[in-house]
Amino acid sequence: MASLDRPLAVVTGASSGIGADLARELAKDGYDLVLVARRTAPMQALADEIKASGASATVLACDLSKAGAAQTLIGEIEAQGLVAIDVLVNAAGLGGNGRFDQSDPVRLAEMLQVNVVALTELTRLLLPGMVSRGRGKILLVASTAAFQPGPQMAVYSASKAYVLSFGEAITYELRDTGVHVTTLCPGPTATGFARIAGIEDVPLFNGPAHVMTAAEVAHLGYQGLKANRSVVVAGRLNALMAMSGRVAPHSLSLAIGNYLMSHQPPSSGSTGHTPPS
Ligand SMILES: NC(=O)c1ccc[n+]([C@@H]2O[C@H](COP(=O)([O-])OP(=O)(O)OC[C@H]3O[C@@H](n4cnc5c(N)ncnc54)[C@H](OP(=O)(O)O)[C@@H]3O)[C@@H](O)[C@H]2O)c1
Repeated sequence: MASLDRPLAVVTGASSGIGADLARELAKDGYDLVLVARRTAPMQALADEIKASGASATVLACDLSKAGAAQTLIGEIEAQGLVAIDVLVNAAGLGGNGRFDQSDPVRLAEMLQVNVVALTELTRLLLPGMVSRGRGKILLVASTAAFQPGPQMAVYSASKAYVLSFGEAITYELRDTGVHVTTLCPGPTATGFARIAGIEDVPLFNGPAHVMTAAEVAHLGYQGLKANRSVVVAGRLNALMAMSGRVAPHSLSLAIGNYLMSHQPPSSGSTGHTPPS
């Protein structure tokens, strides 16, 4: 049950990773929370944890890959008497790896539905209330993959390019309303994301690139949201990579992107078998 005097934030993707750490940032800063994802056990544990900071949290199980899920979710939130939502964090998302023509079409549809459709619908459903109250904040979680096409993750990268483009456009549209939209672009981050996307062993996650923690990314994103920044790229190195992806010749950034997201063959001398210990 939310308290009357605390602002309310809805966080999708709150069962793990960046979304869970954004929920922690909000709770520390005085918000009550609605936590949304499919897995309820980790969200219940998070709700119990953040009670220590005085926040209350409502856990709602929701599969955002289902058509109409955003509308159903908002109905459930309102049915709990939670009508004035001050902050929406769209962190739920998933990736997938491999050549597009060989990718599982069901997985691709799920990715588009969660990363693009549900994010857009939730934002559309909650914005009018924020605009009529003259205040509110929305955080969209995109990716540094938004800054250039991503071979081996073509649909994921395009979905995040959508989020970045959408976010920047509505930020501008809303500039005189008191409502602010921030698009957070993390680079490689140590969460469940890489395992689920099947990219734990690709050079981006397994090479010299700095993999940030979810807590670091969430903190930077939340500071950016508080400061009404339009776009936040998490970390200086990621900001440099994002910028270079935009200015480098396309043929070069496509080749680098393809390498960073490709599974590498075993190095020469390797038998391809696990050595005996
Ligand atoms: N980790 C990275 O390297 C990285 C880099 C750039 C951008 N990002 C973005 O950061 C965001 C958060 O990801 P993460 O890194 O924190 O990964 P994560 O730990 O795997 O978290 C993903 C979250 O999305 C939720 N989710 C996935 N499918 C869902 C569905 N069908 N319905 C409802 N919720 C769903 C998951 O909850 P359930 O499984 O419980 O439903 C989970 O809470 C994503 O948008 C991702 O694209 C991540």
